[in-house]
Amino acid sequence: MSNKVAIVTGSNKGIGFAIVKGLLNRYDGTVYLTSRNESNGKKAVAELNKLGLKPAYHQLDVADRESVKRFAEYLKKTHGGFDILINNAAIAAGSERQCNYEELKEIVDINYYSLLTIQELLFPLVRDNGRILNIASDCGHLSNLLNKHWIERLSKKDLTVEEVNEFVKWYLDGRKDGTFNLKDLREDGDVGSYRIAKMAVCALTFIQQKELAARNISVNCMHPGLVRTDMTYGAGFYSPDEAARTPLYLVLDAPDTLKGEYVWHDGQILDWYDYNADWWFKISTLND
Ligand SMILES: NC(=O)c1ccc[n+]([C@@H]2O[C@H](COP(=O)([O-])OP(=O)(O)OC[C@H]3O[C@@H](n4cnc5c(N)ncnc54)[C@H](OP(=O)(O)O)[C@@H]3O)[C@@H](O)[C@H]2O)c1
Repeated sequence: MSNKVAIVTGSNKGIGFAIVKGLLNRYDGTVYLTSRNESNGKKAVAELNKLGLKPAYHQLDVADRESVKRFAEYLKKTHGGFDILINNAAIAAGSERQCNYEELKEIVDINYYSLLTIQELLFPLVRDNGRILNIASDCGHLSNLLNKHWIERLSKKDLTVEEVNEFVKWYLDGRKDGTFNLKDLREDGDVGSYRIAKMAVCALTFIQQKELAARNISVNCMHPGLVRTDMTYGAGFYSPDEAARTPLYLVLDAPDTLKGEYVWHDGQILDWYDYNADWWFKISTLND
C-alpha cells in the first residue's frame, strides 16, 4: 500500500460512509473513517470489515477545535500529511421554522465555521497535488440568495474570508435580534441557516482554491443530490452509494484542471455566480 491518505469527515453514516466505502474499493492508500461519536464510528468500521474492507479510524468532531487539533497532530505524527480531504460532516433541521437561535447557530457552526478550523489546523498538512472536496448542497448555490447587496459582494472575484464571515454574521445577528428579512432568502427564509452556511462553504471554496492553486491542490464544492439519508428522513432520489459517485470522481478521476468549481451531483459544472438560475433548493422536493 502507498503512503497516501484520504479522510472523510462525518463518515459513520450516510453519504460520507458511502464515500469511505467507495474509496476503500479503489484508493491505493489509507482511508480514514471519522466520526464525532466514537462508538458510532466503530460500529461503521465493523460494518465495513464485514465487507472485507479495512478503514482506519479516528474520532473527529469538526465543531470541536480540540478534536480537530488532536486529529491534526495524530496525522502529522503517523503519516506526515494527507492527500485527500472530503469535508462532508453537516447537520440540518428539516424545516427551520421551529428552531430557536441556538439551534440556528449550531447549523452554521457545524456546516460552515468548522471549515475555518479545518482550514487552519488541517490544511497545513495537505500535500502537493492533493484534493479537497467540500460537500455543499443546492442550498449552497448563490441563487438561494435574494439580497442584492450580498449577491454583489459574494460575486466579487477578490472576495476575502473576512467578507464571507461578515455575510454569515449579517445573517446570524439578524436572526438573533429578529431584524433579519426572511425575504432575503428563497422560500421566505426557511432552511435559512443551512442555505447561508452552504453558500458560505461555496464562497470559501473558491477562496481556498486560490490559496492552494500554486501547489496544484484542487478545492471544489458540490451538491450531492437529494439523497435518502437520515438528514432527509429517508426522502430522496438517490441512495448514498449512488450519491458517492461524483465525489469519488472528483477526488480520484477528475482532470487536474478541474479546480475551484461548483459541481452538480451528475458531474455537471455549474456557474455558482448565476444568481438568477433555478438551482436553489425547493422544500417541496422533499415531499415529491
Ligand atoms: N442527503 C441529502 O439529500 C443532501 C443534500 C444536499 C447536501 N447534503 C450534504 O451531504 C453531506 C452528508 O449528508 P448526509 O445526507 O449523509 O447526512 P447524514 O446521514 O445526516 O450524515 C451526516 C454525518 O455528519 C456527521 N456530523 C454531524 N455533525 C458533526 C460534527 N460536528 N462533527 C463530525 N461529524 C458530524 C453525522 O454524525 P452523527 O451520526 O454523529 O450525527 C453524520 O455522520 C452533508 O454535508 C449534507 O449537508 C445532503
